Amino acid sequence: MDVKKLFDLSGRVAIISGGATGLGRQMAEGLAEMGANLVLCARKKERCLAAAEELQKHGGQVLALGCDVKVPSSIKEVVDATVKKFGRIDILINNAGTSWGAPVETMTLEQWNKVIETNLTGTFLFSQAVGKVMISQRRGKIINIASVAGLRGSSPTLSAIGYSSSKGGVIIFTKDLACKWGVHNIQVNAIAPGWFPTDMSDKVIERNREVLLAGIPLGRFGGPDDLKGAAVFLGSDASDFVTGHTLVVDGGQSA
Ligand SMILES: NC(=O)c1ccc[n+]([C@@H]2O[C@H](COP(=O)([O-])OP(=O)(O)OC[C@H]3O[C@@H](n4cnc5c(N)ncnc54)[C@H](OP(=O)(O)O)[C@@H]3O)[C@@H](O)[C@H]2O)c1
Repeated sequence: MDVKKLFDLSGRVAIISGGATGLGRQMAEGLAEMGANLVLCARKKERCLAAAEELQKHGGQVLALGCDVKVPSSIKEVVDATVKKFGRIDILINNAGTSWGAPVETMTLEQWNKVIETNLTGTFLFSQAVGKVMISQRRGKIINIASVAGLRGSSPTLSAIGYSSSKGGVIIFTKDLACKWGVHNIQVNAIAPGWFPTDMSDKVIERNREVLLAGIPLGRFGGPDDLKGAAVFLGSDASDFVTGHTLVVDGGQSA
């Protein structure tokens, strides 16, 4: 097949949790630019509606829904609404995420649980609900947003052990699910971004800017186009023989 066709997403249907802001928004834009229809969902529905209005300019249809990835019934509503409108689901990006900064000694169980439930359990619940549709279609692409924080330990100045643990969990979840669902022709991969300025990371980047930059061989933070290629590749036919992989996009930070 022609390589441009392999990357083409015309008419494909993609759900992106947390797709109204930050990295989710960037990946949604990349998929829309390649022709995909989108479903954006997050707790703040009004931000999804605003993003949907802008992303529609690329020509595809965009559905904006409220959703809490910690709540199975809320995920089911998104899946049902997507199937009702589009009749299928080709791509799921489990991007919704949160973090909590506190030393290990003082982090409360409530803080730990909130991060694990959003980042890891939310990824499981959404994959399970969408997977049922993908299994019946005998095709699908699941892209889990991990982090370089899930690859190795970090210094005591970056105190977010719940976050690192959740992202390490997302990486092994990705590998295991890839092994389980290869038989259904579903590719399951992860992206591990390095530092990108967003609502979630802005304060940490501001406090540690020079130290962080010194650890990034390309000498800069991730920008507004740096994740698009990875998302389009893993969402398209170009990656049909790639599964269980974690694609690191970090300017060389983990090299
Ligand atoms: N920025 C970085 O440097 C970096 C690096 C590595 C990995 N990541 C990962 O990239 C992903 C996106 O983060 P970001 O940096 O783009 O930050 P962000 O702009 O704060 O995005 C997080 C998104 O997740 C949504 N969300 C949070 N909790 C949710 C829940 N319970 N249910 C549904 N949606 C929820 C938020 O929307 P609502 O508040 O409206 O729900 C928001 O749209 C996260 O998984 C993060 O861990 C970021």
